[in-house]
This record gives sequence, C-alpha cells and structure tokens, in this order.
Amino acid sequence: MAADSLVQKINKLKQERDAVILVHNYQPDEVQDIADFRGDSLGLSLEASRTKAQAIVFCGVHFMAETAAIISPDKKVIMPDANAGCPMADMIDAAGVRKLKKKYPKAKVVCYVNSSAEVKAESDICCTSANSIKVCASLKDAKEIIFVPDKFLGHYTSTKVPDKKFILAQGYCPTHARILPEHVLAAKKQHPQAKVMVHPECRPETIALADEVASTGGMLKYARETSAKEFIVGTEVGMVYRLQQDSFGKKFYPLDDGAVCPNMKLTTLEKVLWSLEELKTEVRVAPETAAKAKLAIERMLAVGRND
Ligand code: 13P
Ligand code: SF4
Repeated sequence: MAADSLVQKINKLKQERDAVILVHNYQPDEVQDIADFRGDSLGLSLEASRTKAQAIVFCGVHFMAETAAIISPDKKVIMPDANAGCPMADMIDAAGVRKLKKKYPKAKVVCYVNSSAEVKAESDICCTSANSIKVCASLKDAKEIIFVPDKFLGHYTSTKVPDKKFILAQGYCPTHARILPEHVLAAKKQHPQAKVMVHPECRPETIALADEVASTGGMLKYARETSAKEFIVGTEVGMVYRLQQDSFGKKFYPLDDGAVCPNMKLTTLEKVLWSLEELKTEVRVAPETAAKAKLAIERMLAVGRND
C-alpha cells in the first residue's frame, strides 16, 4: 500500500479508536512523521501519564510501552511489534537486583528506565538519561547507590554526583557501545567547526571527547539553543532525522552510521495500521509488580529533567 494511503488510514482509525501515537526519537523517519507526540524516554512517559486518549500506540521498545502501561493502567497500551525489546534491559533481572541489595543493604537502588517492570519493582527510584544526575542527587540520605543496568550511564552519572559511592551493574547498550573515540576523532577532522554531542550510554572514553552529553531530548535543546551551525551526533542514527526537522538551518552528521538499534527499526507503518485495527499487541504488567514499579516511576517523574 502506498505510504500516503497508509497514513490516511492510520489517521482515520486513530480517531475512531480514540488513540494517541507516541513515537521515540530513534524510530524510522516515516513513523516519526505520524507521531502525535515524539520524544525521549522521559518525555514519552510524561505524555503517557497525561493523555486523555483511551489507547496509546507506542512506537518504541518494550520497556517504554511497559512504563506507559504502569503509569496509565486505565489505558490500553499497544505495540505495533511486541518483539521490539532492548538488549540492555535484559542484562539484569529482579534476582540480580535482589543479590546486589543483599550485598549492599544500605544502598538505594536507582534503575534506568531501560529495565523490566520486575527490576523497577525492586528499585527505589527510576531515572532516564535526561534526569539521572538529578535523580541520584535527590537521594539526600544515601551514601551508596546501586545503579542498574547501564554501567556507562551509571559511570557518567557518578562523575556528576561525587558525594556518593556508585555500585554499577554491568549492562550496556550494544548500539552506543560501538561508538568509539576514533569515530569522534575522524568526524572532528571531517567537520572541524562542528560541536560533538553524545548520549550518556556511550563509553567514558567517547564521552571524554564530547562538547555535550545529553539525552535525545537534551540534544534537541542543545542544538536549538547553541549558536553553532554544525553538530556531530553520537547516538542512534534516527536522531539525525529528528534534529534536521527541528533545528532549521543547522547541519547534523551521524558520528557512526552503523549506530542503529535494530529493535527500534522493527516498527513500520503497516504494523501501526494493523495494531490500530486489532488493538494489539497489548502490553500488560501483573498488578502487584505494576504497583511497586509505579512508585519508582512516579518518584522519577516528580524530579524532572537535568537537561
Ligand atoms: P533517551 O531517553 O535519551 O531518548 O534514550 C533512550 C534510549 O533507549 C537510548 O538508547
Ligand atoms: Fe536499548 Fe540501546 Fe536500543 Fe536504546 S538504543 S533501546 S538502549 S538497545
């Protein structure tokens, strides 16, 4: 089916179903184009908590849809492709968190939103890359923080919250881990006037060479507000499309063309249409787990952004 007619059908059905389409900044270009709201993990969670729509079509990965289902239990949250997972989120489970809590009983547990509902349920508070510093700094009485699952975001956050000891789990994002310092050096040589921005899921050696470290939402803000006209973008390549649309007149170059998240690319317009037709695949979380995870997410939402 031609893309135009697919989009028309999606828009018609969206109204009939009273659905809102939430889209992450890494989604394929044509999926970004049909968004009612496009954003980073924190922005999408906030939007899911505020929407009046009956159904949420979540174009992103599973933990994001699960987070929306936890904070909006009265809504139907559906994913166009429920196989879209996040390998980093699978790098720790609830038993792994319990083991760390047993070893460090005085520590508070901060979990990156890129985690399962069960892991969130074991945690004191959640964070995203837009607020990990603010979240950790908000734990005034904690001297030790167990940070799961992302060792790179945890390490970056620890450098900004020096009064606390961080115990880092060993997860990482394969898409961001492949962005290396040599990519930064080569890109800087090609575009000497450009500012380098990288996601905090990158390796510390890569982060050390950047002008700005930010969530995908923070990158948009930086690109808009900084006087520079060119930017090297160290994150998943879908972000370049978003930046090109929102920061007019500026140029954006991917730091590494191969930084593709295959899970983010599973969503297609055909699958969005099908999910609206069938109202599938619904993402549900067991009520007991959801109730505990909700506390950790709500605490995070109350903290706000650091970028
Ligand atoms: P953001 O919250 O910065 O959009 O990042 C989400 C993510 O999965 C990064 O890999
Ligand atoms: Fe997970 Fe990395 Fe994909 Fe983000 S880019 S969803 S962290 S695998």
